[in-house]
Amino acid sequence: MKKISLLFLGMCASFQAFSQGNNYVQNYKKFDNLALTPPMGWNSWNKFACNVDENLIKEVADAMVATGMKDAGYTYINIDDCWHGERDAQGFIHPDAKRFPSGMKALADYVHSKGLKFGIYSDAGSQTCGGRPGSRGYEFQDAQMYAEWGVDYLKYDWCNTEGLKAEGAYKTITAAIRKAGRPMVLSICEWGNDKPWEWGPTVGHLWRTTGDIYNCFDCINDHGTWKSWGVMQIMDKQQHLRQYAGPGHWNDPDMLEVGNGMPANEDRAHFTMWSMMAAPLITGNDLRKMSPQTKEILTNKEVLAIDQDKLGVQGYRYAAKDSLETWLKPLADGKWAVAFLNRSKKPQPVRFDWKATPITDEVSKAELNAAKTTYRLRNPWTHKDVGTTKKAFAATVPSHDVVVLLLSK
Ligand code: GLA
Repeated sequence: MKKISLLFLGMCASFQAFSQGNNYVQNYKKFDNLALTPPMGWNSWNKFACNVDENLIKEVADAMVATGMKDAGYTYINIDDCWHGERDAQGFIHPDAKRFPSGMKALADYVHSKGLKFGIYSDAGSQTCGGRPGSRGYEFQDAQMYAEWGVDYLKYDWCNTEGLKAEGAYKTITAAIRKAGRPMVLSICEWGNDKPWEWGPTVGHLWRTTGDIYNCFDCINDHGTWKSWGVMQIMDKQQHLRQYAGPGHWNDPDMLEVGNGMPANEDRAHFTMWSMMAAPLITGNDLRKMSPQTKEILTNKEVLAIDQDKLGVQGYRYAAKDSLETWLKPLADGKWAVAFLNRSKKPQPVRFDWKATPITDEVSKAELNAAKTTYRLRNPWTHKDVGTTKKAFAATVPSHDVVVLLLSK
């Protein structure tokens, strides 16, 4: 009996000593006031996969400025998988010394010197999808390291996470970023498996809603145990999620494939639909070798303004008939964006009688009533004013392409 009570007293004493020395309360909430409009930038994965090094990243940062992409609003230069080297004896991660001989701090400094922001990638599991060291068990050390390097954006992947719960794992890295004390955009990349839209808004700033994008307009690429998805397939998976998006927390239908080989009409449709969905616009092409056409698509400020609209409402499919879809996105100041998307292999006529079609968006409650208000129409791809809503609109939409209109009072 005496022995037991002594043991009990001893345990109480050590618990007290421990709790006195450990009074830090974890903060599982993301840094606010980041990504108030969908983040815009570049990421290495879609074009370069594991083939990343510091020269590439510097050249892409240079190109971001030289091509006018920075002026158009693209900010983040994000290195995806495979930058990693080994952990040191204390467990701190270091970049691959052959590929990044100057170190990550020097690279982040370079990117910052161009007026851009620097992003990096890790994984909640034991290893990244590319088999590099993951952050599991090292979350606080990794976040501390990223903060020391000057990281502004972390994409956090979900490979090799057996036994982990997504919400808890992402909260852990959020708490680690908080503890490290440097605001970073947190891109949750668990492919929509565990409904990140339900728990993600307080934890991160954007969350992937699907598996990986595939550089094809209307295809599925079956890898056996997993699939990657074409532009249309990814778009179709966003519709029921729009109520979860808003300033600071976005559905992420994955990075752009514009400039990676699809024809201009498909690139234009892809870029337009991502803008209609208020998607993060993270380009994935080689900015050093962009064709004038790709540059024109990616830097179209009138289309970018649809994506970046401060109301932050994700657009929606309003009607679909014979592979011709009408998409609507309410914008700030009572404006609307309308996109007619032709998914078929043939050109299709479109006719829209504004006055006969009063519209109320169930999510934002915005109203478009052309019988009461006349809107001016502008085509942001041709940069032309094209009349008003007094007359029905008629046009032909080429195959795998869009006709877009901006409506303003
Ligand atoms: C996953 C992600 C991709 C990319 C790769 C890197 O597949 O979804 O976006 O980051 O891993 O290995």
